[in-house]
Amino acid sequence: MELKVNKTQQSRLSNFDFSDIPFGKYVSDHMLVAEYENGQWQNWRIEPYQAFPMEPKCATIQYAQTIFEGMKATVKKDGVPYLLRPALNIKRFNRSAERMCMPTIDESDFLQALKAIVACEKDWIPQGDGNSLYVRPTMYATGSDLGVNPSRSYRFVIFTMPSGMYYSKPVKLVTERKYIRAVPGGTGEAKTGGNYAASLYPAQLAKQKGYDQVMWLEGDRFQKIQEVGTMNLFFVLGDTVVTPKLSGAILRGTTRMNVLEILRDKGHRVEERDIYINEIVEAYNKGELNEAFGVGTAAVVSHISEIAHEDLKMSLPSMDNRPVAKMIYEQIEGLRSGEVVDTKGWMVPVL
Ligand SMILES: Cc1ncc(COP(=O)(O)O)c(C=O)c1O
Repeated sequence: MELKVNKTQQSRLSNFDFSDIPFGKYVSDHMLVAEYENGQWQNWRIEPYQAFPMEPKCATIQYAQTIFEGMKATVKKDGVPYLLRPALNIKRFNRSAERMCMPTIDESDFLQALKAIVACEKDWIPQGDGNSLYVRPTMYATGSDLGVNPSRSYRFVIFTMPSGMYYSKPVKLVTERKYIRAVPGGTGEAKTGGNYAASLYPAQLAKQKGYDQVMWLEGDRFQKIQEVGTMNLFFVLGDTVVTPKLSGAILRGTTRMNVLEILRDKGHRVEERDIYINEIVEAYNKGELNEAFGVGTAAVVSHISEIAHEDLKMSLPSMDNRPVAKMIYEQIEGLRSGEVVDTKGWMVPVL
């Protein structure tokens, strides 16, 4: 893949305030772009971050043919930028593309593109605990034939954002018993815009009631637990760590995968299975709901302080009593900083 580089003459870097970087607020100077025309990806380039014009009848605006990924680049003490298991994101992106009837991207071209843009924006990677350069590969339809058909042209963009920690405080969840995020056979497994659009209204209602996020339940019985807004869920019930199994309706979280491997390597008893909200209530009543946390790229681990279900408010143990979540956070952040030895080659150097 041939990549052209056109750097900005007006970098914003020297005036940028790295002490104030709320998650996802600021973009770095450059982005990587490619276009899909006539059945192939072409015109790979790095250029200054900018807007693209879009017709109102574009298939992205009308029919939401759009997908994305989220990953983080961090710098180890040796000054080299790294990505954590980018192959997992690349594979998931291509699965999302297939589900949304969009073209896939050759895995080695994708990796080369990721490395090139992160290397280019290296000086935008913030230092410090939990800080990172958030990397957002995105693909969207650019065709504008109004019929409901797959677009014939697409744009692939990777932009990056220097970001602080996503959720800095423990979150309160409420189970959602009217709206459904996804059903097996739907698009819940794809990282596509429509899933997030559909989640906004229930999330807004939850916020109005004083909660941070919705806990999604599956199907018409509203019993089986799926995930939360942008995270997969884990519970520590007694001495067993459980997480909802992949049902076709929840996102195949990359952090979920890493966490499962870390837990198994450390000798924890782990179960991926169907989990029903009544089981969580029962465990809570017996004093066996020891920890609950969400995992995702942005937050890594987000402690859950409360789960509201019907009239019951389940308050979880205090944050200093969460050994499993703490161990996971330290392992993943330790891999990123270099303090934990990377025995599995998860950290992929970018330079
Ligand atoms: C709906 C949803 N579930 C789970 C996750 C966690 O996935 P990952 O660990 O790959 O970031 C995300 C975040 O991307 C998400 O948007």
